[in-house]
Amino acid sequence: MCRWARGAASTGSARGARQCGIVTGDIAQKGCAAASNRQAGGTSSLRVRHPVSLAGNRSPVSSRRNNRLSHFTIDLEDKADLVLREPWTVDGMHALITKNLDRLRNWESWAQGEQTRDGLECFTNHQLSEWVAGRSLPAAIRQNGALVGSVGARIDLYAGVADLGYWIDADQEGRGLVTQASRAVIDHLRNDRGLRRIEIRAAVGNTRSRAVAERLGFEFEGTLRRAQQVGETVHDVALYALT
Ligand SMILES: CC(C)(COP(=O)(O)OP(=O)(O)OC[C@H]1O[C@@H](n2cnc3c(N)ncnc32)[C@H](O)[C@@H]1OP(=O)(O)O)[C@@H](O)C(=O)NCCC(=O)NCCS
Repeated sequence: MCRWARGAASTGSARGARQCGIVTGDIAQKGCAAASNRQAGGTSSLRVRHPVSLAGNRSPVSSRRNNRLSHFTIDLEDKADLVLREPWTVDGMHALITKNLDRLRNWESWAQGEQTRDGLECFTNHQLSEWVAGRSLPAAIRQNGALVGSVGARIDLYAGVADLGYWIDADQEGRGLVTQASRAVIDHLRNDRGLRRIEIRAAVGNTRSRAVAERLGFEFEGTLRRAQQVGETVHDVALYALT
């Protein structure tokens, strides 16, 4: 079911700060290298840009450390990349969700209600604050600079477990973009965050999503009975994990 995927960066002091790839906030204390723009690990390369405030204000705020973000970009293959879901993505993602709403409503609980631009902006800002706290990794997938989908993880810091979610524009489906983007996120979660376990939950009948999990080498651990309601339909959910 990919319980969330609507929606990465490092925090810390501004210019010249200690920044580690796309590691955030207090997590930045762990395994942090002095230089910015470090490799995120695996096959993807990562570019950290200048910090901005949570409100999307482009002028750096010098007071509250937790109010800072740095943008990030993870290069994928064939002119695709991953970017942090910041306020500038709201209009593009809203247009993409609107275009794909009927098919998203087949599988995504979050897509059932009305999808307003304001609602998406609130969600985006909430995910950014969760990113700063180290509890989420909200990324958008771009192809040739255009927003085409979403991949992200919700992170349980206490359990050391992350839950991966994704969706992509119908026109970009079947090209391997989601697998590639997920791989980059998984590299970060395992190599930079040191998470032990990453889960993917997909409705039993969602063959395309299950195929992504299997392509990524996740192990099928079993079926969660009646574990997801999507509109009027209650789905059994296939639980996959990478440990
Ligand atoms: C689930 C979903 C994200 C899967 O997207 P997808 O495009 O099928 O997944 P990938 O990007 O990994 O593409 C896989 C396809 O590309 C092909 N491919 C081409 N190049 C590839 C590459 N370099 N690496 C991997 N696969 C590649 C694969 O063979 C596969 O083809 P197939 O569909 O003919 O079997 C998409 O169907 C979707 O958005 N669904 C609606 C929302 C949803 O269900 N979200 C998940 C909820 S749990």
